[in-house]
Amino acid sequence: MEVVILPGTRQIAGLAADAIEALLRRKPNAVLGLATGSSPLPIYDELVRRHAERGLDFSQAHGFALDEYVGLPPGHPESYREVIRREFTNRINIQPENVHCPDGSAEDIPAACQAYEDAMTELGGVDLQILGVGTDGHIGFNEPGSSFTSRTRIKSLIEQTRKDNARFFKGLSEVPHHVVTQGLGTIMDARHVILVATGAQKAQAVRDFVEGPVAAICAASILQFHPHATILIDEAAASSLKLADYYRHTFDNKPKWQGL
Ligand code: F6R
Repeated sequence: MEVVILPGTRQIAGLAADAIEALLRRKPNAVLGLATGSSPLPIYDELVRRHAERGLDFSQAHGFALDEYVGLPPGHPESYREVIRREFTNRINIQPENVHCPDGSAEDIPAACQAYEDAMTELGGVDLQILGVGTDGHIGFNEPGSSFTSRTRIKSLIEQTRKDNARFFKGLSEVPHHVVTQGLGTIMDARHVILVATGAQKAQAVRDFVEGPVAAICAASILQFHPHATILIDEAAASSLKLADYYRHTFDNKPKWQGL
């Protein structure tokens, strides 16, 4: 796990976008894993800028959303299918049919989850997965206690997550209780994972998953087992880390050829 502490969201977005740009230039038909929530938005804005200003090409790329609410009517502005379109994929030249999202309104949810997994496998798996982290350490919507080997499935949200996400809805009562999310096993299959976290409200979760024990109580801690996980955080999110100086020293002295 590589921890990179940066001054702010602009630098985080720039570094994550560099990794995605390098991947797309090396592999134009790359498969991207796309988180929603607030954390990745500056990355999407930066990629949109690079597409507009220097022709970064997504025409052969695929995108798989991490998760989706269950029970929102089709086209609801806060459904992740709509959010990912609005915030990112409608602003670049990815083919709309190459943007995949778990189906939270399927009649047969287990079958839809299996079909989602199959679609990822058919395309050779996710090359680069962007992640945020919840205040309780969730990634995707794998809440505390999620199995480390889980695949895409339905989950119940913890009350804290519903409260955290109420800012996107008219009120807490509108936030769904259920979601469909890629599992921790699904996320671990991505070849490279970039997790972004900013702000003091994420400091405890960052401390727990980076430096705490690997335990299902903190789902993101499984990333300690990932062979290529990059954690991009600002100073506030890094403020509880014991080894912050070591992470800074390591990144500042990293050979340039290594990239992220
Ligand atoms: C969103 C997702 C969640 C968020 C997490 C942090 O697709 O999977 O894990 O990344 O809840 O959300 P923000 O970035 O809004 O703090």
